[in-house]
Amino acid sequence: MSGGGQLAGKIALVTGAARGQGEAEARLFAAEGAQVVLGDVLDDEGERVAAAIGTAAWYCHHDVSDEESWTRFVAAATERFGAPDILVNNAGILRIGPIASMAFAEYRRVVEVNQFGCFLGMRAVVPGMAAKGGGAIVNVSSAAGFQGIAGLAAYVSSKFAIRGLTKTAALELGALGIRVNVICPGGIDTAMGRGDDFAAVDGPDVFAGLPIPRIGRADEVARAALFLASDASSYCTGSELVVDGGMLAGPAWGQV
Ligand SMILES: NC(=O)c1ccc[n+]([C@@H]2O[C@H](COP(=O)([O-])OP(=O)(O)OC[C@H]3O[C@@H](n4cnc5c(N)ncnc54)[C@H](O)[C@@H]3O)[C@@H](O)[C@H]2O)c1
Repeated sequence: MSGGGQLAGKIALVTGAARGQGEAEARLFAAEGAQVVLGDVLDDEGERVAAAIGTAAWYCHHDVSDEESWTRFVAAATERFGAPDILVNNAGILRIGPIASMAFAEYRRVVEVNQFGCFLGMRAVVPGMAAKGGGAIVNVSSAAGFQGIAGLAAYVSSKFAIRGLTKTAALELGALGIRVNVICPGGIDTAMGRGDDFAAVDGPDVFAGLPIPRIGRADEVARAALFLASDASSYCTGSELVVDGGMLAGPAWGQV
């Protein structure tokens, strides 16, 4: 794939890059000139994606919920390509469960991956980015980070938290030249977005009433991540880029 060189010379880490939005981001970033380290727990899929991208990509097993894994991942990536300029905290999981009956372990696992993973990731890359004079961190929240959704208490709360983490990190890391922004996808056509879990919560026609009346594509989120990862967004930090087909603009009733 040929690209415009928007990330020429940059080193990027993308978590959850074995499929879905993370895969799309890894592919796009490499096409734009970056060297990309893909992290995931799905090793076969991750290896395949990295091999398909070519020598600009390298897959490394990485569980974002594990503090030691972050230490190993950033060290291995730095040894392979150099200290990162870009981190996309994309990895995430979704579990359905009403508050009244959800097992604590299920709730905690979602928070461990989505929220703790985001915190651990930002913390892990700060020394390397600061030593280079700066960097860009792109966190991944969700339309579910703005409103409650029945049955998704763990997911929703973790995605609200990622918005708060992003703004706080932007304040703390600005002096180091590190920009921190968040993308907030709506429904995206990935294993998570088209899975039985989401369908059970959303119903079949959830996208028909949107201003853009369809589900989103991973490449559409990847282009938003590229903007926030690249120098094109050089004056953006602490900001939120919603990629949701208009889902958060308001309810679909009262059409004129
Ligand atoms: N698909 C949607 O509709 C949607 C909407 C809003 C936000 N999001 C968010 O976008 C991000 C990407 O999701 P997606 O739609 O590509 O889903 P996906 O399930 O296809 O991809 C998620 C990836 O994260 C990986 N992952 C899970 N746990 C991990 C862990 N502990 N360590 C490392 N990797 C792990 C998975 O193996 C998978 O490859 C997630 O943060 C998700 O919450 C998705």
